Amino acid sequence: MQLSLTNKIIIVTGGAKGIGLGICNVLAAEGAIPFIVGRNEEDNNKAVNDIKASGKEAFQVVADLTKPEDCKKAIEAIIQKCGRIDGLVNNAGVNDGVGLEKGNYEDFVASLHKNLIHYYLMAQHALPYLIQSKGAIVNIGSKTAETGQGGTSAYAASNGGRNALTREWAVELLKYSIRVNAVVVAECFTPLYETWINTFENKEEKLASITQNIPFENRMTTVDEIANMVVFLLSERSSHTTGQIIYVDGGYTHLDRSIS
Ligand SMILES: NC(=O)c1ccc[n+]([C@@H]2O[C@H](COP(=O)([O-])OP(=O)(O)OC[C@H]3O[C@@H](n4cnc5c(N)ncnc54)[C@H](O)[C@@H]3O)[C@@H](O)[C@H]2O)c1
Repeated sequence: MQLSLTNKIIIVTGGAKGIGLGICNVLAAEGAIPFIVGRNEEDNNKAVNDIKASGKEAFQVVADLTKPEDCKKAIEAIIQKCGRIDGLVNNAGVNDGVGLEKGNYEDFVASLHKNLIHYYLMAQHALPYLIQSKGAIVNIGSKTAETGQGGTSAYAASNGGRNALTREWAVELLKYSIRVNAVVVAECFTPLYETWINTFENKEEKLASITQNIPFENRMTTVDEIANMVVFLLSERSSHTTGQIIYVDGGYTHLDRSIS
């Protein structure tokens, strides 16, 4: 399938590691130019250099997305460098365990800044350029919006917000032919996931109990499997798909797990 993404400038927040890095790698392989927005310059540069070493192009800008002014500056830097934006992947976030029993106002609001508010700000600042290019937006989300997890109110609320914004923006941006979709992840082994699993004493058992409940092949979703869907949704091959929340999760969210 020809995705026609050659030389398209695609912003990937949190593109230096995990799912974001996987998306950047698939974008580069398709001839697009991923523009990483991430907080750690060393990680950003490593990702860019690895992509360049494979003969492809990529750029990075350092930004702490919890700071609204950094979101604005990142878009300005991207425009200064490339002069256009063809797509935005809102991906950066963290499951930070701000619960109802164990949580407070300050941590709840801080978590919204880590997980939701920059999704809005990045889309808002990128919008004039996406209008020019008739670009596409993909929001990465988590199953916790639907299934809950317990002890992570702010992250679950943020993911509910990510899904709602996907529908809301799909409607608002119809007039510009900008498509907006979400890709929802359940279990994908990334640096973030590893940090979380390490919080359990019996992490091997915990991991085994999770994977055995994933209906399709009792295994985690790979970063590439998520990235392939994201890149398809950014491409013209999905030209009549908008406002969709797509679960790349091996059936975890919707299938009967008692049969797996
Ligand atoms: N891994 C999973 O199983 C899983 C499941 C459901 C949803 N998700 C979602 O996928 C997204 C990516 O998760 P991941 O597992 O790849 O994470 P990760 O921690 O492995 O990678 C995230 C990258 O984003 C960067 N980042 C995070 N917050 C940032 C900020 N405020 N400013 C700038 N950079 C920031 C990190 O430095 C890192 O490079 C998250 O939004 C998460 O909610 C992941």
